[in-house]
Amino acid sequence: RIREIKARQIFDSRANPTVEVDVILENGIHGRGIAPSGASTGQFEALELRDGDPARLDGKGVSKAIHNVLSVIAPALIGMDARNQAEIDRKMIELDGTPNKSNLGANAILPCSMAVAYAAANAMGLPLFRYLGGANAKVLPVPMIQIIGGGAHAVNSIDIQDFLVIPMSAVNFAQAFEMVVNVYNAAKKVFTEHQKPLSIADEGGFWPTDFKSNEEGLILLTEAIHRAGYKPMEDMAIALDIASSEFYNAADGTYTFRLENRTFSREEFVELLCGWAEKYPIVSIEDGMSEVDWEGYQLLTKRLGNKIQLIGDDLFTTNRARIQKGVDMGVCNAVLIKMNQIGTITETMDAIEQTKSSGYLPVISARSGETEDATIAHLTVAANAGQLKVGSVARSERAVKWNESIRIEEFLGEGGVYLSKHIFDRVIK
Ligand code: PGA
Ligand code: ZN
Repeated sequence: RIREIKARQIFDSRANPTVEVDVILENGIHGRGIAPSGASTGQFEALELRDGDPARLDGKGVSKAIHNVLSVIAPALIGMDARNQAEIDRKMIELDGTPNKSNLGANAILPCSMAVAYAAANAMGLPLFRYLGGANAKVLPVPMIQIIGGGAHAVNSIDIQDFLVIPMSAVNFAQAFEMVVNVYNAAKKVFTEHQKPLSIADEGGFWPTDFKSNEEGLILLTEAIHRAGYKPMEDMAIALDIASSEFYNAADGTYTFRLENRTFSREEFVELLCGWAEKYPIVSIEDGMSEVDWEGYQLLTKRLGNKIQLIGDDLFTTNRARIQKGVDMGVCNAVLIKMNQIGTITETMDAIEQTKSSGYLPVISARSGETEDATIAHLTVAANAGQLKVGSVARSERAVKWNESIRIEEFLGEGGVYLSKHIFDRVIK
């Protein structure tokens, strides 16, 4: 049973304040959870409660969220059995009483939910993935890893947010990761050869300075794949997170690349993406259209929906109702899953289940603001989700998730499953 709940302000990988929660059981065993934080957040996400006091930390303080943990959540949870994750999450949803957790804040509720899960797992002497997923949890994720980071994660650079790679020919997670490290190092050389300055964007990928066009990212990345000695597509494929809501003009339904001073109608933007999918070894595109442009998404899905993976992130915000709408409309074929978009472990697991039972692929994802918390590495295996996206290979808040996945693979040994490129069999006909 839960004896005590502590909450404190700590800092994330962008030096923004965030909430850390400790749950302590009567037997002295404890669990810890930390809230991550996005930059290119979707408008339909659960609310992240910030103090808004301009005199302190640019208004980003989290003292209200911490106060909500200590004075509203803790009194209700103390005495409850930490093994009742679903009941505890339901209790917090009730206490909040809003559809988007705007009363208590998802950054208050989520770290409590995570800390409860860890406390229960620790009390039972189980790794988190085994506790959450049971005996059947065994699928290691295919990693989707950022090599170049733009958009809201590299201000005033290029419009597209993530240029990522997915290893296609690896036989296990450890090998897959090593292959991506080779591409990352090759990209460093390619940048230098092209006289591009080398700096690091928010998620550890290279910051694209001096680029003339967005397509240049695809050209350099393809070159890096070759340079690392891999066959494009066969060994190493490209994934894009367009994060197009960031440059969508709601007034007239157009898309603008600021870097190139080019504006596209929705039809033209779909054309552009289809052209890239033809020309480059692209296996996955996320947020190709804006979070409000369902019509554009239908068009894009009609064109590419049985050729590559199409992921909705800002479109779905890990929200059951929005995922259902997408399935009903035949939009996308995959869902990005972020715990803090919805706010509890239980709702996150439910969203993954719904995604799978709808024939869509779940991709578990970190946020651009992260910490030493490695919960998502466990969640991915717990739910047999099959894919994990955590930014780049560099920076410790990223490495901690990848390294934990390497350990989980070792722990599972012969019992582990790595699907490699076959993960896409369900969506690529
Ligand atoms: P965010 O970016 O955490 O800044 O929203 C990640 C993503 O868009 O996938
Ligand atoms: Zn995204």
